[in-house]
Amino acid sequence: MTSARVRKAVIPAAGLGTRFLPATKAVPKEMLPVVDKPTLQYVVEEAVSAGIEDILIIVGRGKTTIEDHFDRSFELEATLEAAGKTTELEAMRAIAELADIHYVRQGTPRGLGHAIGTARRHVGNEPFAVLLGDDMMHAKSGHLANMLAMYERLQSSVIAVRKVPANEISLYGCIAPGDSQGDDITISALVEKPSVDEAPSDMAVMGRYVFTPEIFDAIENTPPGRGNEIQITDAIGLLIAKQPVYAYKFETGRFDVGNKIDFLRATVELALERPELADEFRSVLYEIVDRERETGRN
Ligand code: G1P
Repeated sequence: MTSARVRKAVIPAAGLGTRFLPATKAVPKEMLPVVDKPTLQYVVEEAVSAGIEDILIIVGRGKTTIEDHFDRSFELEATLEAAGKTTELEAMRAIAELADIHYVRQGTPRGLGHAIGTARRHVGNEPFAVLLGDDMMHAKSGHLANMLAMYERLQSSVIAVRKVPANEISLYGCIAPGDSQGDDITISALVEKPSVDEAPSDMAVMGRYVFTPEIFDAIENTPPGRGNEIQITDAIGLLIAKQPVYAYKFETGRFDVGNKIDFLRATVELALERPELADEFRSVLYEIVDRERETGRN
């Protein structure tokens, strides 16, 4: 039996981050900062603000950096305290109190589906959310909270999807929409990273999922797929044969921080939202744009 409320979240953070080398040679890509906060912290905060109490981070390399970040640092705290930096001190303590955070190692990287499968023992027979770190949701977007509410209403898995331009569909999992029940749309099939011709729609899977625990059996029965990896997209396809899976459609509020241009965009946009940086940073941006225009490189 599924339970009514989702308390747990799983955050896969075991990728190699090859797109951000050399920054990710010794530092996990999830620890790269946007403005002054690691992307992983934004994702943890998003989960917590949606009501998640327990977070399992699936780690590969660089486990210690991630663990240290979400733990107390007595040495740093003592230094900040001695310097009278109380705001910073409170902020550092707050990170360690965000949620009950646990870690598991993926071992051999065999794909996203496999990574999520390693959460089985920790999650047990409960529904749970999955948040992919490459997709950062704006703090005010409320998407995960909406998905959790949808799960509670429908008692079924919910996958976040967004319409993308045709030339981008091959970067994502793609859904075929199924029957609608009122405003709720089911998913009838999924294809991982299809070509434009193979894509059953222009709706792409974004990195937020809420699963019933039956996804674990589906993952175990999923053979390696695209790239010879166990794909979560294929596992969801198997789950659909057993129970309905719904699409949560959204349009705005997502940054793709797995891509350099969007990573830069996220940095600029989030810096402009910071009251202590906005005015000065805006002037810097105008200065750069003016200079670029003058030199004809616009
Ligand atoms: C993964 C999933 C894909 C999904 C995407 C969202 O791909 O396999 O289905 O659309 O995340 O960001 P990745 O970007 O890790 O290759």
